[in-house]
Amino acid sequence: MKIFSGTSNKSLAEKLAEDLGLKLSDLEIFVFPDGEKRITILDKVLDEDTVVVESTSNPADENYMQLFFIVDALKRSGAKSVTAIIPYLGYQRQDHVFRPGEAVSLEVIVKTLESTGVARIITLDLHSVKIPELFHLPIKHLSAIPLFAEKIKEEKWNDKKTVLVSPDMGGIRRIKLLSEQLNGMPYISIEKNRDLSTGEVAASKINGEVLSRAIIVDDMISSGKTISVAADILRKHGVEEISVFATHPVFSDDASKILQESKTEKIYTTDTILIPGEKRFPKLEILSVSKMLAESIKSA
Ligand code: R5P
Repeated sequence: MKIFSGTSNKSLAEKLAEDLGLKLSDLEIFVFPDGEKRITILDKVLDEDTVVVESTSNPADENYMQLFFIVDALKRSGAKSVTAIIPYLGYQRQDHVFRPGEAVSLEVIVKTLESTGVARIITLDLHSVKIPELFHLPIKHLSAIPLFAEKIKEEKWNDKKTVLVSPDMGGIRRIKLLSEQLNGMPYISIEKNRDLSTGEVAASKINGEVLSRAIIVDDMISSGKTISVAADILRKHGVEEISVFATHPVFSDDASKILQESKTEKIYTTDTILIPGEKRFPKLEILSVSKMLAESIKSA
């Protein structure tokens, strides 16, 4: 098997290769003066099973194009199969029409990915469990929830003082799964409203009983407003200690500042998206999904 990486998350690709006892294989990405790219596979892949790692995070369009070209180059070079590991699947929040006139961008992405000849996809914590149904090829949908459960146990937060919190109604399935892995830890949810045109977030109500420690769990953090608003309402209801576990650190605009200044003690995310140095902050801790991906490849 040969593993290749695009430019979006090379450090995760390197860790993954190491966990599989391999080294990253070589490819060249030449950028023309007008920004167009030429991808060349430099390793021999004839009749080989190949894997390409690319997180389609910001800049999503650029990273998707790079992924499409790498898959195409591998297929043309004779690879027996190409598995695309897309730790964070960009455009997943545009999986249906929210307001008349909108494109279903994720559907366009799915059709394009399928047309490149990729054999299967491995991804993590999709925004909706229905997304895999849009694909006509095998898609392995992994979750960072077991990693979070492990960390919570390590921190000894699996006690009677702790409640799991979904910061919106859409996250209840996720929180139930985590609760199951923590011997039925209680969970509550927050009623959140987002203004679709301004992006502003407000929390109106908590469903359930708060305890002195709260663990907020989400699939991704983008602007950081959901977490900040959730922490505010939890504190108002008497919670003394708040930690956050979110799989994808999208961290757009000044999310890092919002998160550092939020009424939380600790923010855990994973390395599905590479967080540049300037976006890291003291409260942040990054857990790696590399071993989970390696297991998934080995068991395929
Ligand atoms: C929403 O449904 C998601 O699960 C996240 O809560 C949301 O994408 C977070 O976005 P932000 O950080 O911009 O509030």
